[in-house]
Amino acid sequence: MAVAQEKEKTRRVALITGGTRGIGQAIARSLARDGCDLVINYKETSKEEVDRLKDEADTCGVSALFIRADVTKRAAIERMVRIVKERHGRVDVLVNNAGILVKQPFRKLTEKNFDDHIATNLKGAVMVTRKVLPLLERAPKGKVIFVSSASAHNYTKESEIFSYAVSKAALGGVTRGLATELAPKILVNSVAPAYIETDMLLGEASDEENEARKSRTMLGRFGKSEEVGRLVSYLASSSADFITGQTFHINGGRYFGE
Ligand SMILES: NC(=O)c1ccc[n+]([C@@H]2O[C@H](COP(=O)([O-])OP(=O)(O)OC[C@H]3O[C@@H](n4cnc5c(N)ncnc54)[C@H](OP(=O)(O)O)[C@@H]3O)[C@@H](O)[C@H]2O)c1
Repeated sequence: MAVAQEKEKTRRVALITGGTRGIGQAIARSLARDGCDLVINYKETSKEEVDRLKDEADTCGVSALFIRADVTKRAAIERMVRIVKERHGRVDVLVNNAGILVKQPFRKLTEKNFDDHIATNLKGAVMVTRKVLPLLERAPKGKVIFVSSASAHNYTKESEIFSYAVSKAALGGVTRGLATELAPKILVNSVAPAYIETDMLLGEASDEENEARKSRTMLGRFGKSEEVGRLVSYLASSSADFITGQTFHINGGRYFGE
């Protein structure tokens, strides 16, 4: 009993935004496997799905707190942080994963398309980090990981993802700036995936285009969310305690990085 209580006290607390689907869900699973207690944020996921995920977390032997909060809304972020503070008192690992992608080429760009991407993918990630910072500072070693995208560095004209790519490119500056400001106690890195098999990827292109995309990767396939999950787990672990301000590319060899 005493051992179990001690283990609970020393378990890391990981907050994952957009953690109910796709890459975020796989990151949550991977961190649970590493023994982290989870705080899983989401925006629209149904109650039935959240209940199913709660049951799954129970079988992993870690605690999982699900909090509905739109990361574009300050009051919702503040409420989420209050709940986490009351429940855990600190956050060891913050994964800013929540993101949207709505295709629109620059020639047809609307202000709404641009604002929506900046609000969720960039400002949402920055403001969540800003509000969670006092809880990260209470951890022995805080880790912040942004989920960027290969498109921050390179994308095809046909993909029509101007606003998305701009919002993700800005996360590179955020990563380097925060790594500088928050060192040495808090380490800040990004992962930049491409072509990971999720609703977001499959929903924005035809089957034909998806086959062409596979052939554009050296490994001839899409990545799995679990593969991104393991990379994030590594960055969150003490094995990565000499790494900050970096972007890690995970894209099957589609793009070599900066
Ligand atoms: N799939 C890829 O190939 C790929 C490549 C590069 C980068 N990424 C990045 O990886 C991240 C996850 O992508 P995915 O493919 O897993 O996407 P996804 O399947 O569409 O999942 C997106 C997640 O973000 C959440 N979310 C969206 N807007 C939110 C908001 N305003 N507040 C809180 N949560 C919000 C969603 O929650 P609800 O469902 O509850 O709304 C969902 O859990 C994104 O940042 C994406 O840009 C993906």
